[in-house]
Amino acid sequence: MTTLNPADDRGLAGQTIFITGAGSGIGRACALGLAKAGANLALFDLAGDGIAEIAETARGLSLKASTHTGDVTSSADVGAAFAAAVAQHGAVHGAINNAGVLGEYADLADCSESDWRRVIDVNVLGVALSMQVELRQMLQQGGGSIVNIASAAGIIGWAGHTAYVASKHAVVGLTKTAGLEYAKRNIRINSVCPAFIYTPLIVDLLAQEGVEDAAIASHPIGRLGQPEEVAEAAMWLLSGRSSFATGSNLVLDGASTVD
Ligand SMILES: NC(=O)c1ccc[n+]([C@@H]2O[C@H](COP(=O)([O-])OP(=O)(O)OC[C@H]3O[C@@H](n4cnc5c(N)ncnc54)[C@H](O)[C@@H]3O)[C@@H](O)[C@H]2O)c1
Repeated sequence: MTTLNPADDRGLAGQTIFITGAGSGIGRACALGLAKAGANLALFDLAGDGIAEIAETARGLSLKASTHTGDVTSSADVGAAFAAAVAQHGAVHGAINNAGVLGEYADLADCSESDWRRVIDVNVLGVALSMQVELRQMLQQGGGSIVNIASAAGIIGWAGHTAYVASKHAVVGLTKTAGLEYAKRNIRINSVCPAFIYTPLIVDLLAQEGVEDAAIASHPIGRLGQPEEVAEAAMWLLSGRSSFATGSNLVLDGASTVD
């Protein structure tokens, strides 16, 4: 991630970036931001529609874009998708592990086992399985950069969402630990912790009476975030501009977690 290209002084032009959950929300904004910066895209999601549209946009900018459908909780799906991406692009220089689910709203005693398992499977195992294939490839290539999308729920509690909070604390923890493990091997691994961001993930939540106003009131900046604001941070962490950052966690929260 060190080659500078005059078209994009972040050095992302010509790099191939693998993105999970790329078809919607933050993943989509990352993909479109990376395309604007001249990066080639390997787009992974459960369904093909969203990623197909983004790939078309990227190809319209004369970039390479591949689409891969599958479930991040399946090592077979992730392995096949990543191998296909490497075969089509020749290399994968960076990755954004973004696919995630919120899960049901309930106090812990009332949570269903199936929801807990789903949230942990997608948000924790999905990131770990993705990182495994990414790390193996980056070790062969001699380096790379990985960004995990955690959450403000990765650093504070959030009543009614124990599984989500536990899963995002886990993403921060696995980022720190993998960051330590690969620090000397030219692979940087960082996470970001966004607070509320306007995406389909929280549409139902914000639609409930009074919830959006309360959410805004809990952000001292006076508003919720936009997916492009998370994408900007993820691109900085992917790029050589953040060359001294690894194992770190960048909080993007409009001061909502400041104590
Ligand atoms: N929106 C927020 O307020 C917010 C805040 C902090 C962190 N996040 C995190 O950002 C990430 C992206 O969320 P978003 O808000 O863009 O949500 P979103 O629902 O708009 O997009 C999530 C994408 O992930 C995909 N996905 C879900 N499960 C998958 C699976 N098992 N395998 C493959 N793909 C899967 C979905 O199909 C979807 O395209 C998540 O990890 C989420 O926890 C979101």
